[in-house]
Amino acid sequence: MGLLSKRAVSILNMKEHKQLFACPVCKEGMSVSDTGKVTCINNHSFDIAKQGYINFMTKPVNSMYSKELFEARQRVIASGLYDDLQRKIAAHISGTYILDTGCGEGSHLARICEKVEGSVGVGIDIAKEGILSAAKFYDGHIWCVGDLASSPYSADTFDVILNILSPANYDEFKRLLKPDGKVIKVVPQEGYLKELRQQAFAHSEKESYTNALTLQRFKESFERVEVERIHYTVPLSGDLVPKLLEMTPMGWHIENKEAIRLSEITVDVNILIGTLK
Ligand SMILES: C[S@@+](CC[C@H](N)C(=O)[O-])C[C@H]1O[C@@H](n2cnc3c(N)ncnc32)[C@H](O)[C@@H]1O
Ligand SMILES: [Zn+2]
Repeated sequence: MGLLSKRAVSILNMKEHKQLFACPVCKEGMSVSDTGKVTCINNHSFDIAKQGYINFMTKPVNSMYSKELFEARQRVIASGLYDDLQRKIAAHISGTYILDTGCGEGSHLARICEKVEGSVGVGIDIAKEGILSAAKFYDGHIWCVGDLASSPYSADTFDVILNILSPANYDEFKRLLKPDGKVIKVVPQEGYLKELRQQAFAHSEKESYTNALTLQRFKESFERVEVERIHYTVPLSGDLVPKLLEMTPMGWHIENKEAIRLSEITVDVNILIGTLK
């Protein structure tokens, strides 16, 4: 038997987990055909692309997030900057189905799933460039272009919903979670990439920020909430500095990027864990 194409492998994987999908238009269940079409009973149909992902958007969206930004993010994550965070997140996970909402180029989900035996990773992002990169580099997961606020998944499906440095929609997350599932949201704190912000935005309001309101909304949305703060500073090699500038929307607002010199960088985030009961 010859080697299966990336698309053929994805078709098999999506067929195996077809119960995950619900039509983003009418919310009916979906079937996955041998030819790579994902279709509901009302005939809303979406194709599995040759790169192995599905685009569930019904109209194209212009994302501010570019191919270069996602490549830079992948480089920085591969450097190990977020390893401690990923380990901490994985330690909170039990169950099989993990959905990463706003997964970007997929590195966090892929690296977290490596640490959770038997897990099935599903990533959704509205930026096609992110999902293209995820599907290219990380086989064995289900990658979807879609809107996390109106997602292409069935109710009561996921054991864990990840939401890392991305916007959230708690009503949709509650619809998607199994009754004993949990949402794990990562929110930046004052020290997050502070060396970069101090140089780029000295004395402006971008230099520091808090996320008190985000925590309050999270607490109002879930029954039981745990908060774990992760704070560490690591040395940064020179070749990663331009990638760090490119990987964050902050970089859009920095005028003189060449003047920035960084020898270390801080990760300071809250992990918010919420359950339905
Ligand atoms: C700062 S990036 C974080 C990406 C990734 N979680 C990471 O930490 O590398 C925010 C991501 O949220 C995605 N996003 C924004 N709005 C979205 C929506 N409505 N549905 C799905 N993804 C969305 C963006 O496209 C972007 O990839
Ligand atoms: Zn439909």
